[in-house]
Amino acid sequence: MKPLLALNWKLQKSPAESYAWGRALLEQIPEELPAELAVMAAAVSLDRLGNALRGSEVHWGAQDVSQHAKGAYTGEIAVQWLNELDCAYVVIGHSERREYHGETDTIAGAKTAVAIRGGVKPILCVGEKLEVREAGHAESHTLGQLETALSWLTPELVQSEFAGSLEWLTIAYEPIWAIGTGKTATPDDAENMGNTMRAWFVGKYGTMAEQVRLLYGGSVKPDNIKALCSRNNVNGALVGGASLELESVLKMLEALV
Ligand code: PGA
Repeated sequence: MKPLLALNWKLQKSPAESYAWGRALLEQIPEELPAELAVMAAAVSLDRLGNALRGSEVHWGAQDVSQHAKGAYTGEIAVQWLNELDCAYVVIGHSERREYHGETDTIAGAKTAVAIRGGVKPILCVGEKLEVREAGHAESHTLGQLETALSWLTPELVQSEFAGSLEWLTIAYEPIWAIGTGKTATPDDAENMGNTMRAWFVGKYGTMAEQVRLLYGGSVKPDNIKALCSRNNVNGALVGGASLELESVLKMLEALV
C-alpha cells in the first residue's frame, strides 16, 4: 500500500493562503509522488484549495464533519457539501476536537459512518494522554476508542454495505503527548501500536483488516518521517506543524521515496 502523507493545517491558513500554497505546491512536487498526498484545510478554504489542486494527483479534505446530514445545526458542515467540493478525506475525532469540543468516541463513530456513506473517506484519530501511557494503558485505551467508534461497523455490514472492503478506512494513531510538543513517539512506539491495532482489526474483520490504512501522527517532521513510516503497520503520517511550510512538505515527500 502506498503511504499516505496527510497534512493537517488546523486553524492556520486562510482561503487565499490555501490557494496560493496549493498552486506553489504543484509547481514544485515531483511528477511521480512517492506517497499519496492529502491536504486537510479549514472548511472555508476547501473550495479555493480544490480549485488550486484540481486535475493534479494531490487530494484535499476537511478537518471535521457534522454527524447530521442536514437540519437545524448552526455552524455545522454536511458531508454532502464536502463531497460537492470533491474532498477525498475528512479527519474525524482529532484530539483537539475531543478536548475543546467535547467529541466522544461515540460521536467520532457516528461521523465516521456519515463520512463514508457520504462518499468522503474518514481518517479516524485515536490515541492516549501521557498519564494513560505512563500507567501502562496506552494499548487498551486506544483499542477501546476503536471498539466504541467502530461498534456500528460489523463484519456483516462490511459485506452487505461496503462490498467486503475496508480500503476506505484510515486510522491515525496520535498519542496526545506527542501532538505539537516536539516529543515524537519512537518508531518502536509507533510500530507497536500499529501492530496492536492491526491485530485488533484482524481479530474482528479477518483478512479484510489488511486493507485498513494505519497512520502515525504527533510531531512528525522531515528528519523523523522516514524512520517512522518505514516500520510495519505505519502506513503513513498525519502531520500538523511541519505541514505548513511547503519546503518541509517537499522534504517529507523526498524522505518517503
Ligand atoms: P503535530 O500535529 O504534527 O503538530 O504534532 C499532528 C496533528 O495534530 O495531527
